[in-house]
Amino acid sequence: MPIRKPVPVPPFSIVRASHIEYGATDLARAKSYWVDALGYLLADETSDALYLRGLEERNHHSVVLRRSKDAAVASLGFKLASEEDLDKAARYFGERQLPNRFVERPFQGRTLAATDPLGMPLEFYFSMDQLPCMLQKYGEYRGAKIQRIDHINCFTPDVQLSHDFYNEIGFRTTEYTAAEESGALWAVWMHRKGGVHDIAFTNGFGPRLHHIGVWVSSITDIIHICDVLATTGFLKSMERGPGRHGISNAFFLYLRDPDGHRIELFTSDYLTVDPDHEPIHWNLLDPTRQTLWGAPAPKSWFEEGSPFDGVATREPVLKAKPIVAP
Ligand SMILES: [Fe+2]
Repeated sequence: MPIRKPVPVPPFSIVRASHIEYGATDLARAKSYWVDALGYLLADETSDALYLRGLEERNHHSVVLRRSKDAAVASLGFKLASEEDLDKAARYFGERQLPNRFVERPFQGRTLAATDPLGMPLEFYFSMDQLPCMLQKYGEYRGAKIQRIDHINCFTPDVQLSHDFYNEIGFRTTEYTAAEESGALWAVWMHRKGGVHDIAFTNGFGPRLHHIGVWVSSITDIIHICDVLATTGFLKSMERGPGRHGISNAFFLYLRDPDGHRIELFTSDYLTVDPDHEPIHWNLLDPTRQTLWGAPAPKSWFEEGSPFDGVATREPVLKAKPIVAP
């Protein structure tokens, strides 16, 4: 069984996936997509960066778009349970001889930048500037009415290695996909906050970012943004869906921003807080796995992703192929 048992007392306590910093080649174009079309709230804007948040979020930002020549991802952010957990995290990465250093980040308290064994750039912090919650400011609801960041999904060249590391630092597995013949792990969904996932890994050329998943309150919000995007010049930004995943039961729509960064609008997964919650096994070739209604994902969905800034990539160790749309 390649799925590890949960670690009840991890070396440091992660609360949830919190934010991401993207490179953006054209900030005005990025703003027109993320803010004007999708309806993200603009928390702050400088000459070289946009700081965005969802309607429910009190943290200053969950998305940073920073002007850059390429569109690489700078870091994946996770909120910790306390300041002490930051020191515990630094000790943990140090003992494993994994790169880690405290860095300055606007609007955030002490922040530890660290690298996982595959080279993915992580960022841990406890405190971030707080802004008034806009949950009940319904007059401010725009676009997809995005409430909050939900999860981060990455391509990894070694799903088992990624699973083992994130299991060790406290992420618990809710669902997984295994190759039909060997039973080797092909994808895994792991959480800290009590939903289906805070982070997920998919077998592929990597490490690269596959997408961030952002929470919306209802399926009708997803249907509405399809109508909005189709009639405001963003038809081609819709890559896959809308539909319902077999995995996670979530209703979804996958989008690509002007730099190709993939965003999943996501709603209606389920509660996973019970410590004896058994992971659900999926066969890679089950047609209801990707989409409960059977429609397979397009080729781009399995092949295209956002690079991590300066991080070397490699071919996956597992060669098993999923079902791909013709
Ligand atoms: Fe997702």
